Formats: sequence, C-alpha cells, structure tokens
Amino acid sequence: MSETKHVELVVIGAGPGGYAAAFRAADLGKRVLLIDKDPTLGGVCLNRGCIPSKALLHISKVIEEAESLSTMGITYGKPEIDLDAVRAHKNKIVSQLSGGISQLAKARHVETLRGGASFKSNSELTVNTETGEISISFDKCIIAAGSTSVMIPGVPKNHPSILTSKTALDLIDIPERLLVIGGGVIGLELGQVYAALGSKVSVVEFLPNLIPGADQDIVKPLQRKLKKQFESILLSSKVTAIEPNEDETLNVTIENNKGTITETYNKVLVAVGRKPNTQILNIKSTTIQLDDRGFIQVDLYQQTSVKNIFAIGDIVGNPMLAHKATHEGKVAAEVASGHSAVFDARAIPSVVFTDPEVAWAGLTETEAKENGISYEKGEFPWAASGKAIAMGANQGKTKILFDPKTKQTLGVGIVGPGAGDLISEGMLAIEMGADAEDIGLTIHPHPTLGESFAAAAEAFSGTITDLYIPK
Ligand code: NAI
Repeated sequence: MSETKHVELVVIGAGPGGYAAAFRAADLGKRVLLIDKDPTLGGVCLNRGCIPSKALLHISKVIEEAESLSTMGITYGKPEIDLDAVRAHKNKIVSQLSGGISQLAKARHVETLRGGASFKSNSELTVNTETGEISISFDKCIIAAGSTSVMIPGVPKNHPSILTSKTALDLIDIPERLLVIGGGVIGLELGQVYAALGSKVSVVEFLPNLIPGADQDIVKPLQRKLKKQFESILLSSKVTAIEPNEDETLNVTIENNKGTITETYNKVLVAVGRKPNTQILNIKSTTIQLDDRGFIQVDLYQQTSVKNIFAIGDIVGNPMLAHKATHEGKVAAEVASGHSAVFDARAIPSVVFTDPEVAWAGLTETEAKENGISYEKGEFPWAASGKAIAMGANQGKTKILFDPKTKQTLGVGIVGPGAGDLISEGMLAIEMGADAEDIGLTIHPHPTLGESFAAAAEAFSGTITDLYIPK
C-alpha cells in the first residue's frame, strides 16, 4: 500500500525558483515540502546550467585573456588541459552550492523529498520515489518544474555524439570539430568554452542574426570576436539532415541561400531553445489552464486557474531565466502565505556570459521600432574609456534608451567584459524611474567600466566631456 500524507504547502521543483519559494514560505511560517526528481537540490541552473557553465566560461575567459596578453608584451605557452581535473573542479563548485542549499533547507525545517511528482487532482499528488509511491494531499502547491532542451526533428535520438546543454557540460571529451545548432545563449556560451579548450567550432543559426532577442549593435563586438574564434558562423541557415557514421562522427547537411553543404563533425550540440516540463506533471487531472504553447497560465499573483495552485519560472513562459523564476517564486510564496504581493517588475535583465558579455534590460531599440515606441538614446563607446582601453576592452559599449518626454530610463544595452554585472545599475535606473540627469549627476568612480553608464547618460544630456559630440 502506498504511503499517504498531507502538507500545508508543497513545492514541485527545487531550482532557483522552487527553492526560493519554499524558503520564503517557510520564513513566513508555512510547513513546506520541497520535491525534486534530482538527487541534489538546485535544479537545472545549479546542477547542469548556469553554474557549471560559468565555471567553464571562467576557464575559457582566462585562457583567452592569457593569449591576448601577447599584444601587451607577455607571451604564455599553449595551455595544457587536464580534462578530468577541469571536470572535477566544475563538479566541486556544483556540489558545494547544492550542499549549501540543503543546509539552508534544513535550517528552515523545509522537508525535502526526492521523486517525480504528478497530479491526481486539484489537491492531490503522487510522488514516485526510490522506495515506492507516496500520495500527498496539499492545501497549496507551487509548481516550479522548469523546462527541458528542445530537439529538432530528424536528429538521431540518444546518439553519443549529439549533445544537449546538459551532456555538453559533462565535458566527456574535446571534439576536434563541433557543430552548434542555434546561435542563442547556450550555443554561443558553450561554443566559446569548447573553442577555448581546442575544438574547431561552427554555428548554424536559423535566423539572420546571432542572439536574435538583443539589439544587433551590442551583439556585433561579440560576433567579431567569434568570427576569429570559430571555424564558421552560418546565419539564415538550417540543418536538413544528420547521418551518423560508424566511427560516431556525424555527416551534417546544411542549407542556406548559397546552396547545400555536407560536413563531417565529431559532435553536434543542439541548442535551439527549451520547452516547459508540463508533460511530466499529469496536468490533465487538474483544471489548470495551459496556453497554446504549453506554458501554465498565471496571473500577476502567480496563481493558476486553480486558486490553491501557483506556478513560476520556465514553466509559465519566457524569458526562461533563473532570476525571473526566483522573483516569481517569492511572489507566489508570499501570496500563498496570505501576504499581498504581485509580479510588477518593470524589466527582467538578460545576460549572455560570453567574452565579451552581452547584457540588456527593458526596452530594446528593435522592440521600440517594431512597436512604434518613441525613444531617444545616449551611447558611450568604451574606446573612450581609460579603464576599457587598459583592459583591451575598447570594443565595448553602453547605451541607454530614454523616454523623450520624461527623460526616464526605458532600456539599457551593454557589451563588454562585466556587462552582466554592469546591467544591474541599468535595472536599478529602470525600476527607480531614474532620468538622464539622475544618472549623469551620480558620481561614478574613475577609472571603472561602471562610469560608462553615467557617461552614456551625459552623452544624452550633452554634458559629457570625455567625448566631443557636435551640436
Ligand atoms: P535561445 O532561444 O537563446 O536560442 C536558440 C537559437 O536557436 C535562436 O537563435 C533560434 O533562432 C535558433 N534556432 C531555433 N531553431 C533552429 C534550427 N532548427 N536551426 C538553427 N537554429 C535554430 O535558446 P537556448 O540557447 O537553447 O537557451 C534556452 C533558454 O535557456 C533560453 O530561454 C535562455 O534564456 C536560457 N539560458 C539563459 C542563459 C543565461 O541567462 N546566460 C544561459 C543558458 C540558457
């Protein structure tokens, strides 16, 4: 007979959204059960996404930087790569952080359960654990079950040379030739890691641009760098066939307006987006509404069409970003605990942790033009920044979009080393409704990359002295 229990609040999924929701609700006095099918807490982001990729991107950035010192009079030899040690280093970071989350759960008396949860009704779940099935009835539930990589049709299933972001991060070997399908966030971040470790990397992107969601002026400096690092970048191109060879290499046929080519690669990484994990939850046994793309529909309180069930993170829609999930998780936990809270963030920042980093938040110029939104902008090219020049980062740029009437910040785009950290100041400006004068008159330390933010605002206001802008 299966075990049965009742809980006040159950959270399905222990990623950055789920564990934040569980911890916040526990801090507000709820008895919380946190369920995850993985053996460790932290979800995709911590176990096989954001964190391990950042550990590897740090290594690839240092390799690149050491190489670039040759133009500054310092020459290192070719790096010796001990792949087992690199993997062990990455795994140690992951287990250190997931161990930390377990400790935080224990400290808050959040009960954790390993198993796959699926709904039986609007107030009951079944959890398949290693030791059998558990039936759980709940007062409230927060679904934070995340997303999974999408595969493209025609790709051989379970072939050892076809990688997803998860298996690419396992770093089994360094393929001589790697094809990345999808020139988005994952494709470019992992492509750069493998290129630095010695692979000849090619990218095939279906659309005419890399990172299609970002303004192309802030993608260009990255694209210029990738042109040097990668074997080829094929835009407006699609993969029409992948044929495995006996030696586990793959013959890949790529089509674009120049014609059709077939090339042989040792591995292919498929990074063409992610889909919500609704299929594993047996949603049809509830009255939860999905939208036409399979995401769970929620209101501003993160509440689904079932009053006692909330949903957050990747499973409720784009952008599929950890920090969005965390924010939504806290809103759901607060509302589920009887507090007044609402998702009313003005913007969600996006960061591509390549070298150089690309970051943007709020309105982009592309969106503004598509939707007829009027804006004015201030730009500061890092070629005029002493700090950037000293770092060899003069390709960078900071731009701020302002409301032409109120002069308040509508959007920010940054490219260059540390752009992912610098965008936080842009976020604060957007959230606080800072105008160009607020930003330009805020004393920024010199020499830093951060002062490029004030300089962009001053360029807009016409008060900048580090550039000459003819009237
Ligand atoms: P993505 O949406 O960023 O990029 C996928 C790319 O593949 C797009 O440029 C798309 O046009 C292209 N594409 C789609 N179908 C294709 C096809 N058949 N052939 C060639 N190209 C094709 O998705 P990605 O990189 O898989 O990342 C998934 C999610 O994970 C994203 O929502 C992203 O926000 C998130 N993520 C965020 C990270 C970060 O914040 N730094 C890091 C990694 C992932």
